[in-house]
Amino acid sequence: MAITDSTVAIIGAGNIGGALAANFAAGNQDFLLAGRDLGAAEKVASGLGGHAQAVTVDEAVERADVLLLAVWLDAFQQLIAEYGDRLAGKVIVDPTNPVGPDGAGGYQKVIGQQESSGQLLAARLPAGARLVKAFGTLSAPTLTAAAWREPERAVLFYAADDDAAGDLVAELIRAGGYEPVSVGGLDQSIRIEMFGDLHEYGALGRTVTRAEALAAI
Ligand SMILES: NC(=O)c1ccc[n+]([C@@H]2O[C@H](COP(=O)([O-])OP(=O)(O)OC[C@H]3O[C@@H](n4cnc5c(N)ncnc54)[C@H](OP(=O)(O)O)[C@@H]3O)[C@@H](O)[C@H]2O)c1
Repeated sequence: MAITDSTVAIIGAGNIGGALAANFAAGNQDFLLAGRDLGAAEKVASGLGGHAQAVTVDEAVERADVLLLAVWLDAFQQLIAEYGDRLAGKVIVDPTNPVGPDGAGGYQKVIGQQESSGQLLAARLPAGARLVKAFGTLSAPTLTAAAWREPERAVLFYAADDDAAGDLVAELIRAGGYEPVSVGGLDQSIRIEMFGDLHEYGALGRTVTRAEALAAI
């Protein structure tokens, strides 16, 4: 299946959900946009040139082939628990960084140092749901500022165990104005989550071109 034949939904119209919604709209990618507050999703969708349809979370889960959960890790886990088998057969996109405030103005990991939210979430999904780790490597402001970069697109890394699901999300990354680069399977998720070496706030420290990305992985 190609992304043009898929129904894409974003759940969560906050910093990351809103930034991705604007990038997809700029790429003429149509999608559903859902949040707990339908009015808030409608407000965001109304500024996106007809590319976004605001729906309830329930409708997004029902209709989407590709479900991008732009929510925090705890909410992601709650949604998996709530929707369970209704997620089977879907590509589930995970942009989470497993972090919380450290009490000193920064962030700290909220899971084990060697754990990744990509692997934790994949293990909780029902059989047949395919998780792809993507869209969490850049901060929301950078995600907006670096989209559609000329003359060469900036890279967004992704990780997937299922090649077809990974390919679909790579198309979605392109539709949002970025160059997709795979880092491998979900066991590599930790590298593209916050504190990982390929995260914007890790060793890379910036957005990169495809050649720079391939040299780094
Ligand atoms: N912000 C960044 O720069 C950044 C960068 C990379 C990755 N990320 C990751 O992206 C995720 C979202 O971050 P964010 O900064 O966009 O957070 P945010 O601005 O707080 O947005 C989170 C959104 O999730 C919605 N939400 C929460 N629980 C929900 C539920 N049960 N059902 C449906 N929607 C729900 C919230 O809706 P309500 O308004 O109703 O609460 C809100 O719209 C996090 O996992 C974060 O680690 C963030």
